[in-house]
Amino acid sequence: MGIERTFSIIKPDATRRNLTGAVNAKIEAAGLKIIGQKRIRMTRDQAETFYSVHRERPFFGSLVEFMTSGPVVVQVLEGEGAITKYREVMGATNPAEAADGTIRKEFAESVEANSVHGSDAPETADEEIGYFFAGTELVG
Ligand code: RTP
Ligand code: MG
Repeated sequence: MGIERTFSIIKPDATRRNLTGAVNAKIEAAGLKIIGQKRIRMTRDQAETFYSVHRERPFFGSLVEFMTSGPVVVQVLEGEGAITKYREVMGATNPAEAADGTIRKEFAESVEANSVHGSDAPETADEEIGYFFAGTELVG
């Protein structure tokens, strides 16, 4: 699989409860390195573009409201098989179905307010990283 990069968001429910460090501790304990990170307030336009694949889903409007409701921390994570590994560390989308020890099991409030995002494939990882970071902001 080799060394990969994946894109992560610590979502507004987690920043609101001051859980940035707790989430980062889980990421680092899994052997993933945070090679870029910044705290931003997502604009409506950014949230709609970022989640455009879900535009027709019934939860789209609510999701955009949620993602713009407070600060988020966007990150790039690097490591062996980073994309799959981070999905494992995150746990299932619905925290009720997430495995013990995962970020979503421990911290998520609901299926929507589920604390973190992680890219689901190499193509989306590249696209998402490029949407939020310049190459000069990533230091491996
Ligand atoms: P993400 O994209 O944020 O990493 O999460 P995911 O792949 O596990 O889930 P996805 O199906 O891509 O859904 C994106 C985000 O939309 C919200 N959601 N709400 N109300 C609902 O039924 C519902 N389903 C999904 C969650 O915030 C989910 O992470
Ligand atoms: Mg997804």
